Amino acid sequence: MKVLIVYYSTYGNVYRMAELIAEGVSHVSGAEPVVRRVPELIPDATIEARPDMKAGRDMQKHVPLVTVEDFKEAGAFAFGTPTRFGNCSAQLKNRIDQLTSLWLNGEFEGKPAGVFVSTGSMHGGQETTALTLMAPLLHLGMVIVGLPYSNQELFTTTGGGSPYGPGHLAGGDNKRDIDENEAALCRAFGKRLAEIGLKLKK
Ligand SMILES: Cc1cc2nc3c(=O)[nH]c(=O)nc-3n(C[C@H](O)[C@H](O)[C@H](O)COP(=O)(O)O)c2cc1C
Repeated sequence: MKVLIVYYSTYGNVYRMAELIAEGVSHVSGAEPVVRRVPELIPDATIEARPDMKAGRDMQKHVPLVTVEDFKEAGAFAFGTPTRFGNCSAQLKNRIDQLTSLWLNGEFEGKPAGVFVSTGSMHGGQETTALTLMAPLLHLGMVIVGLPYSNQELFTTTGGGSPYGPGHLAGGDNKRDIDENEAALCRAFGKRLAEIGLKLKK
């Protein structure tokens, strides 16, 4: 069963989270991670003028853009976004808003999905972003998967991560590394999503 990890990332933090979630998926026998990005909406000229944006773009240019087939073939889904004013990025939302035909065919009904997010600041909206991003997934008929407190890192994290899904505190300059707690929650989330996907598929 394929687990589609579809994300948007300007500076690379959400991309790194996607890779860690893929690692968690790959620990589950019978599950295969598929990492895909969504199209950029920021004009090229803006990115070219910003070394940090250029570096973010270049580090993930090998990641294929998500296709309709990727959505059709997956048995479970993880959606990743940086927080934008307490909410999902326009880039990821724009792609979700183009799922109309798959939605009308009921392609996503009964399939598990969860979300992962990165913020610049500690209280800048990880949880609002995660919770509001779940609304379109519920409309699509997906079964929401989060992280239970049997993951001890939820008690010890001083960065990101919550019962609503993996999180990362990137810092005001977007340069804070993903720490051990955040990484463990990303891997645990990938594993949980894959395991639940396989159970639901039966
Ligand atoms: C337009 C814009 C709005 C943002 N809004 C928020 C916000 O509401 N809260 C916050 O903590 N960080 C905010 N940020 C910071 C991003 O969340 C941060 O750059 C991101 O998590 C880094 O992830 P990335 O490296 O994958 O792009 C904002 C950044 C931009 C460019």
